[in-house]
Amino acid sequence: MNFFFFFFSPFLFFCFLTSSFTSCFAGNVTYDRRSLIIDGQRKLLISAAIHYPRSVPGMWPGLVQTAKEGGVDVIESYVFWNGHELSPGKYNFEGRYDLVKFVKIVQQAGMYMILRIGPFVAAEWNFGGVPVWLHYVPGTVFRTDNEPFKHYMQNFTTFIVNLMKQEKLFAPQGGPIILAQASASLNLDNFQLI
Ligand SMILES: *[C@@H]1O[C@H](CO)[C@@H](O)[C@H](O)[C@H]1NC(C)=O
Ligand SMILES: *[C@@H]1O[C@H](CO)[C@@H](O)[C@H](O)[C@H]1NC(C)=O
Repeated sequence: MNFFFFFFSPFLFFCFLTSSFTSCFAGNVTYDRRSLIIDGQRKLLISAAIHYPRSVPGMWPGLVQTAKEGGVDVIESYVFWNGHELSPGKYNFEGRYDLVKFVKIVQQAGMYMILRIGPFVAAEWNFGGVPVWLHYVPGTVFRTDNEPFKHYMQNFTTFIVNLMKQEKLFAPQGGPIILAQASASLNLDNFQLI
C-alpha cells in the first residue's frame, strides 16, 4: 500500500462513521499551503492504492473495507488507459474495468477517492498504461510536448472526466472524488502541460 500524508496542520480532523451513515461527505474541497481543506476543515488523510483491474468486481467491496478497517481514509487508483480505450474512440468499462462501479463502492464505504487519470501508470503495468495503438499513430512521441500524444491524451482524459461528472462522482456533486491527477511521475521542468 502507498501512503500519502497531508500533514501540516495543528488542527486534525478525521472522518467518523456513525452506524450506517457516513460523515465523509465532501462538498467543498480546497487547499492552501498547509493542507487540504474539506468543507472548511483541515484534513489529515491517509490514502491507499487499490488498482481496480488487478482484481475482480466481486472482490472490490472486501478490499475497500479492509483498507478502511486498516485506518485508510482515501482510496487512490490510476485509470488504466490501455484497458479502457481498446482502439481510438472504442471504450471498455466492463468487468474489471468498471471504473464507475469501483468509485461507487468507495463512496458506499464512506471513503474518499483520488483518481489518477494518468495517462502514465508507473506501477508494473503493460506499456505504462499507454495504448499500444498510439505507438502506431505517425509522429507520436510518448510523454512529451507532442501533438498526437496530447490529442489522444486530452481525448481520453476528457472522456473520463465527463464520465465521472455524468455519474456525479466528484465531491462538489456529492461524490467521493476529492482530487484528480493528470500526469503521474513526470519531470515538470521538461514538460509543457496541456
Ligand atoms: C469553500 O471553502 C473555502 C475555504 O474553506 C471557502 O473560502 C469558500 O467560500 C467555500 N466555497 C463554497 C462554494 O462554499
Ligand atoms: C475522442 O475521439 C473520438 C474518436 O476517436 C470521438 O468520437 C470523441 O468525441 C472524442 N472525445 C472527446 C472528448 O474529444
